[in-house]
Amino acid sequence: MASAFPSWSLVLVVTAIVGLRLDSAAAAPMYRSGAREAVQGCGRSTQAELVECVAASVQQFVNFMSSGKLTPKHWITPFDPLHLPNMTIYQRKEMRAKAVYVNRYLVGLKNSFIQDVRVDLDRLQFNATALLPALEILGMFASAVGQESDLATENSILTFSLRNTVIDFVARGSLYTPEGSSSPHLWLQLDINYMAIASYVLSEHLGTDHGTSATAAITPAKFMKLMEKDLRVQLIRRLQYIANEALALAPFDQLFPV
Ligand SMILES: *[C@@H]1O[C@H](CO)[C@@H](O)[C@H](O)[C@H]1NC(C)=O
Ligand SMILES: *[C@@H]1O[C@H](CO)[C@@H](O)[C@H](O)[C@H]1NC(C)=O
Repeated sequence: MASAFPSWSLVLVVTAIVGLRLDSAAAAPMYRSGAREAVQGCGRSTQAELVECVAASVQQFVNFMSSGKLTPKHWITPFDPLHLPNMTIYQRKEMRAKAVYVNRYLVGLKNSFIQDVRVDLDRLQFNATALLPALEILGMFASAVGQESDLATENSILTFSLRNTVIDFVARGSLYTPEGSSSPHLWLQLDINYMAIASYVLSEHLGTDHGTSATAAITPAKFMKLMEKDLRVQLIRRLQYIANEALALAPFDQLFPV
């Protein structure tokens, strides 16, 4: 996919840190120690160039930084696979019944296509639509009636395969000056304007003979509704956290030199 991008485009964050040029990033990364002078973010010369540069940078970041390794010295939280928190599917105290979906991972974010980027640098607004062709949510479904300890033995591996998800992200920025720094950094507050999943498949593998079927406990449609709601919340929270981890590594005016 890298060849689809113009060679002049830059990896926003990595560029800011180590002064890597995109065209050398794929083949032979060069690390420079005092790279501040080599930093080339997204210039503000024209709005069209700015938008194109931001779009290409975000696209590169998504495609190539998913392991969380930005440079040998700079790590952020990995986002593909993205660890998701445990989820309670239902809990009925009167029946002492409970179902959980735990040890969950979201796979496929790195294959996102970033489209329709909108930037208003004065107001620090960055909006973009992402097309996610194939996402999988993998995890363990466990349910029990009665004792809490039953949960460990009765389980199944549950996978949601989402096809052609479209998400319209909205990011509102603010500037802050971290301790020990004299220059302002960008902090983003993320939200999702719109999210649509074209289709999904739920598949389940029972772990033991005594496995409980998730689909016996809750209909796939109902389950999917819960998952969609949860996915939205987790994407906002987790991606906001990770974006800000990356943005914290370079001051604003290195990302967007005047
Ligand atoms: C999630 O659930 C699993 C299985 O019950 C457990 O081992 C793990 O500690 C839980 N994680 C969190 C963060 O609660
Ligand atoms: C980003 O989206 C928000 C919410 O829809 C909107 O208010 C804002 O004007 C948009 N900004 C840009 C630069 O498109």
